Amino acid sequence: MGRVFVAGSINMDVVATADRHPRVGETVAGREVLYFPGGKGANQAVAAARLGAKTTLIGRLGKDSFGAELRTFLGAQGIDLGAVRDADTHTGTAIITVAASDNTIVVIPGSNALVGADDVADVPLAKGDVAVSQFEIPLPTITAFFRRAREAGVVTLLNPAPAQKMSRELLALVDILVLNETELGFLAGSELSDSDEAARIIDVARKLQARADQTICITLGRRGVLALAGREEIAVPGRAVRAVDTTGAGDCFVGALAAQLADGAPLRAALAFANAAASISVQRMGAGPSMPTAAEVAAVLQAA
Ligand code: RIB
Ligand code: NA
Repeated sequence: MGRVFVAGSINMDVVATADRHPRVGETVAGREVLYFPGGKGANQAVAAARLGAKTTLIGRLGKDSFGAELRTFLGAQGIDLGAVRDADTHTGTAIITVAASDNTIVVIPGSNALVGADDVADVPLAKGDVAVSQFEIPLPTITAFFRRAREAGVVTLLNPAPAQKMSRELLALVDILVLNETELGFLAGSELSDSDEAARIIDVARKLQARADQTICITLGRRGVLALAGREEIAVPGRAVRAVDTTGAGDCFVGALAAQLADGAPLRAALAFANAAASISVQRMGAGPSMPTAAEVAAVLQAA
């Protein structure tokens, strides 16, 4: 079984729950303020670790109370934190509003902006491992990480969220790209919405594909997942569940997919597993704490 290495962000999520989102310039009364461990990198590492993968997180935390709390939470998940270093600034923080299960997020990078190429330089990558990243740390760091990973024969998995322009070099270093339809549309320069048909979404993915053997997975929320694996097309149907908080659902999918691939699962089975995992996470509040265990995912897959 390979290891999962996640280079990415670690945030404290400061969550306000309300009956509805305020409009610009408006104030609404909220219900609660909650503090949840979050950050795309940390969330993906938590998902992988809870599903049984040996997981290493590479990142940075500020020397403040959020940093200390996050370190304790992540350590308790069994994640190797040897490559999570301190930073001389505040810990990454996300200000989130959750209303009617939808969220808005303002993320302040803080310590995450200081994750540099030196942080990924001596990670002990070996064949069979999976290297994972997202767009909440500097892109040159991800490029350096993936260059090393490919040299070591390690599978690279990128979740380009939140979407931003990326170099051709970085895209070509990616074995598996996982993104939603909005991010796919942005990166491919074609507008896509959640009502677009599967055939059109796959066409746009084909346009973005940087190598003939690249896999592009498009997460469609309640509509499930589409994937273009080389020339093969895979569709995984969605699962009807009652969502309370979708924050981190994409991260749950990415972490679960990485854990499955590190365990040697074939892509189609890994996608179905990750889709089931994400459907559990949306039924619980918070990002990090909502990630399921392998037993919980197995129960959902068996019930189907
Ligand atoms: O993907 C969800 C995450 O994005 C949240 O946990 C928040 O920290 C933001 O980074
Ligand atoms: Na959740």
